[in-house]
Amino acid sequence: MLNIIICGAPGCGKGTQSDLLVERYSLTHLSTGDLLRKEIDAKTDKGIIAESLISKGEFVPDSMIINMLIQYIVEQPEGSNGIILDGFPRTVAQAEALEELLDNLNKKTTVLIDLNVDNDELISRLLHRGKTSGRSDDNLETIKKRLEVYEIKTAPVCDYYKKLNKYAAINGMGTVNEIFARITDVIDSKIENEVNSKLLVDTEY
Ligand code: AP5
Ligand code: MG
Repeated sequence: MLNIIICGAPGCGKGTQSDLLVERYSLTHLSTGDLLRKEIDAKTDKGIIAESLISKGEFVPDSMIINMLIQYIVEQPEGSNGIILDGFPRTVAQAEALEELLDNLNKKTTVLIDLNVDNDELISRLLHRGKTSGRSDDNLETIKKRLEVYEIKTAPVCDYYKKLNKYAAINGMGTVNEIFARITDVIDSKIENEVNSKLLVDTEY
């Protein structure tokens, strides 16, 4: 089972690369941003709270996100080879909750992929997307706020996974296919390591 976290600043390509990874490894894509936007469209209580925060570039409360995600992590669809978490965990508190949940399920995080992209490129990608996305957070003022919040709250999540030895920085500049190849190299080597360590355990000497 693969439990992959895809992390990085707004516009770094988390959603784009997740779609390709889902195809390659038969994963279930869990994007907290997409789940929140569904709540907003359905005008639920959660959606109303989320809309006011997202449009300002602020995070929604940890407890709301964690409660929303638990059921998806616990109940994975038949045939799924694991999950790709896109946009979660985004705070250290969320990372701690995720690790505790996986531990209780006898599972573990495979790796956190950190997509590194220059700020100018991030802004240009998001402004370009903003022309057609209809997202209330794809405007210059909110993009700047999102980048600031990312640095303060999400960069420490990378440190958390570095300490667990489950962190991989990936150059997120270049074409979508170039970046995808860099990510699959990391994941394939994690899969190979896992197979080798299982072989060691299963082999009698
Ligand atoms: P979320 O929806 O996760 O937004 P985000 O992190 O700001 O990231 P984006 O979805 O904007 O970008 P992306 O990295 O997915 O890039 P994409 O592939 O689309 O979260 C939105 C908000 O919800 C948050 O700000 C927060 O308020 C709230 N939220 C969500 N999760 C939360 C959590 N866990 N806790 C608290 N609050 C939470 O690519 C961007 C654009 O670039 C696209 O147009 C794409 O086509 C293009 N592109 C992609 N790759 C390339 C490339 N290589 N070259 C050129 N263009 C490219
Ligand atoms: Mg996204």
